[in-house]
Amino acid sequence: MNQSGTTHLPTKVIVGRLLREHIRRYIPQMLLAVVFMGLVAATTAAYAWLVQPILDEVFIEKDHSRLMAITIAVLAVFAIKGMADYAQTVIMAQVSMRIVADIRQRVFESLLRADLAFFHGASTGELIAGCMNNVDLMRDAVANTLTAMAKDILTLIFLVTLMFYQDWTLALIAFFVFPLAFFPVSAIGRKVRKRASLAWAELEQVTGFMSETFRGIRHIKAYGQEDHETERARTRIDALFLRIFKTMRAKAAISPIMEMLAGVAIATIIVYGGGQVIAGETTAGAFFSFITALLLAYQPLKNFAKLNNHLQEGLAAAQRVFDLIDIEPTITNRPDVGALKVTQASVTLENVSFTYGEVTALNGVSIEVPAGKTAALVGPSGAGKSTVLNLIPRFYDVGDGAVRIDGTDVRDVTLESLRANIAIVSQEVALFNDTIGANIAYGRMDASQAEIEDAARDAAAHDFIMDMPQGYDTVVGESGIKVSGGQRQRISIARAILRDAPILLLDEATSALDSESERQVQAALSRLAEGRTTLVVAHRLSTIADADVIHVMNDGEVVESGSHAELSARGGLYAHLRSLQGGHEPLSFPAAADA
Ligand SMILES: Nc1ncnc2c1ncn2[C@@H]1O[C@H](COP(=O)(O)OP(=O)(O)OP(=O)(O)O)[C@@H](O)[C@H]1O
Ligand SMILES: [Mg+2]
Repeated sequence: MNQSGTTHLPTKVIVGRLLREHIRRYIPQMLLAVVFMGLVAATTAAYAWLVQPILDEVFIEKDHSRLMAITIAVLAVFAIKGMADYAQTVIMAQVSMRIVADIRQRVFESLLRADLAFFHGASTGELIAGCMNNVDLMRDAVANTLTAMAKDILTLIFLVTLMFYQDWTLALIAFFVFPLAFFPVSAIGRKVRKRASLAWAELEQVTGFMSETFRGIRHIKAYGQEDHETERARTRIDALFLRIFKTMRAKAAISPIMEMLAGVAIATIIVYGGGQVIAGETTAGAFFSFITALLLAYQPLKNFAKLNNHLQEGLAAAQRVFDLIDIEPTITNRPDVGALKVTQASVTLENVSFTYGEVTALNGVSIEVPAGKTAALVGPSGAGKSTVLNLIPRFYDVGDGAVRIDGTDVRDVTLESLRANIAIVSQEVALFNDTIGANIAYGRMDASQAEIEDAARDAAAHDFIMDMPQGYDTVVGESGIKVSGGQRQRISIARAILRDAPILLLDEATSALDSESERQVQAALSRLAEGRTTLVVAHRLSTIADADVIHVMNDGEVVESGSHAELSARGGLYAHLRSLQGGHEPLSFPAAADA
């Protein structure tokens, strides 16, 4: 995810894509906004234009009859300008926020569809920053840029026309100076873009760091590492400060440069224009109307100069956002594959090898789970047990060999049909931030309340759910009520029961449960496994004893297979592991096996 090293795409490419994919459909609204911007621009110029009659007719000629008319004209100009400005601001805000919402949705969808492997390389914080901060930055850029391009340019056109109308020599003097500003301003713009993209990469890192820190808060406290983490945070926050500061420093140079040039222009104009008025070549009103227009042109011109900065910042953000939108999942449906039709639901791994990047996790593993039977996987931590389970629903694709269901390679059927036939209870249970009922219904969205409660009863979860403040409507997860490890597991078992799939993958939690919870979870699991083809990573004795066949894994290979009695008698790894654990260890092959 950390793409701080990505090369910059040309501006044209990014802008073109933004226009095509995200902005084009809002062109009607934007045209309406431009009409209002035109009104703002015209009234701004009208205001400068009115200065001439105010001075020449009211103040110098003291013409009382014109006083009322001009006052009304001034009021009208301001009223129209105010309303038009309001309308264009609201329309542009709506369009830009809509664009942001669309893009967020696109990024989120693209991330959801990304391969599981992608999430191992990216921290949650980085992904959230990608969805939220970068998109906001894009919005600022798009809104500011579009507004500047339409409103400020139109205002400039009107004001400049007025200036040429009042005194074209003065106008030429004024405009000789402005092109000079272009060169430093555009050089600074490029620098700003480069620095902004570094700053945002850093921000993603800090966000990622923080979200990981808070997730591990229990461990930080337990090991007394608060100071250590504070120091780590300081280094990162300081680095972020420096990058943002450098961006800001480059940006800060723009205004003063513009202001100095403006000062020179105005001084020149006063010398020349003042001389003209004294010599009677032009009226004081025309001169002040000109000066007013020039001063009014200053703000839009400044905005216009900053336009490039906004644009560059936005481009840097847009590129990161597009990188996320463009993530292509590799685990997808092959062309022209049909749905999986499960007849027996036998599961076979045929000489399967698999690596996570560089780490070899499985090496020539062959396992057969006959239809309706239960096979247990046991072995030391890191042996590759969870990896075997991951390959069956294609969370990852095998490197070598094949995974088959009823003889069909899982890569030769659609992902949706494959996963619809599999229920999973995994090592770490994720509860979503929703009601308990909804968490169970995740297994089958159209389940009725009665079906949900039946599943919960089978999973030995109904009683504790009814004890909760709002029963099945109690919100659990991040911001809801906390549930214990054993309760969590039973909720996830209920979810799997509700799914009612012919193939069941169980990865037993390694965390110890008290014996009452353990008994209830175990009973729920046995009911769940009944009549289904089950592959279970077993840590509990009762699960192992219930299995039709046990495969002992070590270092990515299946080293022994057989029933509990056969393996115990054989004196291999299974027997060795059991004797090691001597009955004191509640997890993995307790010696109480004989009891
Ligand atoms: N996402 C991953 N990225 C890289 N390596 C991984 C990943 N997941 C697992 N591994 C590695 O693959 C090997 C097998 O891991 P696996 O999770 O299958 O072990 P396991 O038998 O389930 O262990 P445990 O009993 O501790 O759950 C280990 O060496 C592990 O470090
Ligand atoms: Mg595991």
